[in-house]
Amino acid sequence: MKTLTLLAQKGGTGKTTLAVHLAVHAAQKGKRVVLLDIDPQKSAVTWNLRRQDDRPEIIAATAAKLAAAQKQAANDGVDILVVDTAPHAGPAGRTAAATADLTLVPSRPATFDLDAIGASVDIVKSVSAPASIVLNACPPPTRFGEAGIVREAREALTGYGLKICPVAIAHRAAMGHALIGGQAVTEFEPKGKAAGEIVALWTWIEKEWT
Ligand SMILES: Nc1ncnc2c1ncn2[C@@H]1O[C@H](COP(=O)(O)OP(=O)(O)O)[C@@H](O)[C@H]1O
Ligand SMILES: [Mg+2]
Repeated sequence: MKTLTLLAQKGGTGKTTLAVHLAVHAAQKGKRVVLLDIDPQKSAVTWNLRRQDDRPEIIAATAAKLAAAQKQAANDGVDILVVDTAPHAGPAGRTAAATADLTLVPSRPATFDLDAIGASVDIVKSVSAPASIVLNACPPPTRFGEAGIVREAREALTGYGLKICPVAIAHRAAMGHALIGGQAVTEFEPKGKAAGEIVALWTWIEKEWT
């Protein structure tokens, strides 16, 4: 079993959005996927209430039950465990990062988000498990390549000594529309640009942990 944790101290960076999208895509590819929602706000669980499909499995767990839930998933033959954490997740966030094959720290490419990322980076570095920053909700690329603010964000983030995912996820209306309908963009608009980015991100993740 491979575990992917989404972690960021700041709220609204895209932890749940990416957790749900990556979990759905991996399930579409035939993997047995469990999304473990340890955020007391239960955004992933709420999304699942609107969903027509029973895959991926969404399981709510308290932070205290994280380790037990991980063990259970491994015993049950789960291929991919995606752990969606709360902002300021505290020790649970640390555990989720420590036990992950990869932790993704989503950040928007804006000043305040970049300023706030240090605390998240400290956590993933302190557990010395594989981790990477992923830029989310970015202005879409143009025919000249990535938007200026995205390139600037990459540059500003190099000082943290953490890998920055080469795939940036754009802010796209399809993401919100898909989530409202209990779907992910790879279902809602499989040929769309948003879906293409999620597929590219998943492909990169799989390369990272093989
Ligand atoms: N790439 C994106 N495109 C469009 N909307 C996005 C994107 N990423 C996040 N959002 C929106 O931003 C809000 C916060 O995202 P969310 O995933 O809930 O953040 P977190 O889980 O880190 O608190 C949500 O309304 C979500 O739909
Ligand atoms: Mg969330």
